[in-house]
Amino acid sequence: MEQNTKHALVTGGTSGIGWELAKLLAKDGYNIILVARGEEGLEKSQKELEQTYSISVETISKDLFYAGNAFELVDEIKAKGITIDILVNDAGQGLYGEFKDTDIQRELAIVQLNISSLLVLTKAFLQDMVARGDGKILNLASIAGKLPGPLQAVYHGTKAFVHSFTEAIRSETKDSGVTITSLLPGATDTDFFHKAGMEQSKVVQAGQLADPAEVAKDGYNALMSGDDMVVSGFKNKVQVGMSNILPDSTVADRLKKQQEPVDKK
Ligand SMILES: NC(=O)c1ccc[n+]([C@@H]2O[C@H](COP(=O)([O-])OP(=O)(O)OC[C@H]3O[C@@H](n4cnc5c(N)ncnc54)[C@H](OP(=O)(O)O)[C@@H]3O)[C@@H](O)[C@H]2O)c1
Repeated sequence: MEQNTKHALVTGGTSGIGWELAKLLAKDGYNIILVARGEEGLEKSQKELEQTYSISVETISKDLFYAGNAFELVDEIKAKGITIDILVNDAGQGLYGEFKDTDIQRELAIVQLNISSLLVLTKAFLQDMVARGDGKILNLASIAGKLPGPLQAVYHGTKAFVHSFTEAIRSETKDSGVTITSLLPGATDTDFFHKAGMEQSKVVQAGQLADPAEVAKDGYNALMSGDDMVVSGFKNKVQVGMSNILPDSTVADRLKKQQEPVDKK
């Protein structure tokens, strides 16, 4: 039997959108390197992927709230002699609340996770991919990156960074054989809002959250087609389209209304 030789590294591949992306990659025959903090989630995901698909899965527990751990992750993968054909930078978190009140240490950690660790992994594997003239990268941005987001100001800022950065390095590496894609989901039904302490917000309570499997499918198709970006979902495409026309201050005020707690009049 022919062995699968391609490898995909998925950070945040144990839950939500990352887990759905890991399944799509496994289904297409990619061996997976799963990265997250929780050992239990890693073991469970590894078992399920290996039992369902004819691929192998490596798990590496790393807390990417510390960018130093992203350097360790690169070293560990290179020490194993694994070539990364596809990199999915999915791990990311947010924090709910007015910036004047939120915990600055947590916000700095979110910047490390959403931005710094993503930069470390992207540079390391992009260099190898460009040298080989082959490879693909998918970065989890968000429609949040297109919209100033009161009550999640830092999170929205990090996602604006991710999207802008992705488009810029994509242009730098045009014709290198490597493609870099930005996935922009809207509010999606995962553990994200629980982690961010955001369950009481109107956007979550309205209950119209996207299915992470659908979001992953949109991202996967864009990744495999080598597209620069995809906004997942019709409603989100409209919201991003409107934000391109409206003044930023109006977009921010409208978003504040969506993100306020339900008990706010
Ligand atoms: N859900 C949404 O509405 C939405 C919308 C737009 C974009 N996104 C983006 O999509 C990505 C995935 O989010 P999700 O909604 O699928 O969330 P999720 O269900 O909470 O999954 C997050 C994944 O990342 C891992 N992770 C979290 N913190 C980590 C850390 N410090 N170090 C290493 N791994 C970490 C988690 O595992 P451990 O907890 O075990 O570490 C888990 O595997 C994020 O970048 C998020 O910003 C989400």
